Amino acid sequence: MATEGAAVHVIDVTVNGVPHSTAVPARRLLEHFIRETLGLRGTHIGCDTGNCGACSVICDGQLIKSCMMLAVQADGCEIETIESLGDGPDGLDPIQQAFKEHHGLQCGYCTPGIVLNAKTLLAENPHPSEAEIRRALKGNICRCTGYVNIVRSIEAAAGAQGE
Ligand code: FES
Ligand code: FES
Repeated sequence: MATEGAAVHVIDVTVNGVPHSTAVPARRLLEHFIRETLGLRGTHIGCDTGNCGACSVICDGQLIKSCMMLAVQADGCEIETIESLGDGPDGLDPIQQAFKEHHGLQCGYCTPGIVLNAKTLLAENPHPSEAEIRRALKGNICRCTGYVNIVRSIEAAAGAQGE
């Protein structure tokens, strides 16, 4: 693509535990690398301007917005996308199960980013308060749910961790 620049760089990046050594255009965004180069379409693109959080992935343990990062900047990083979750008995991660049981999604467009947000939150703070959950969600926009059931889902996932 002309907008991605003519220069190409080889990057080494591990995505969902799989190492990739791949040539990428200098200006390819990480979100496009994940979706188009690797074919992992669970990472959604909403605004492309860093506002909505739909493109959120985990990079070296930190939640990041993949539309705000170039693929070349991920050289040497470990990336987790929504496809990395789901090794439970019914194919769902406990956070995904909680979203299913507590109606934490409607159209689902925001959901991969919010589930990964919840994963990083619960890794740092296994039993967050409602206020802490709402604060963590400030970078992820949901146009459907009003957030009440999203917060309930994350609280349930936190509770399940303690069982
Ligand atoms: S698509 Fe990246 S924040 Fe909206
Ligand atoms: S469930 Fe539709 S945008 Fe969040």
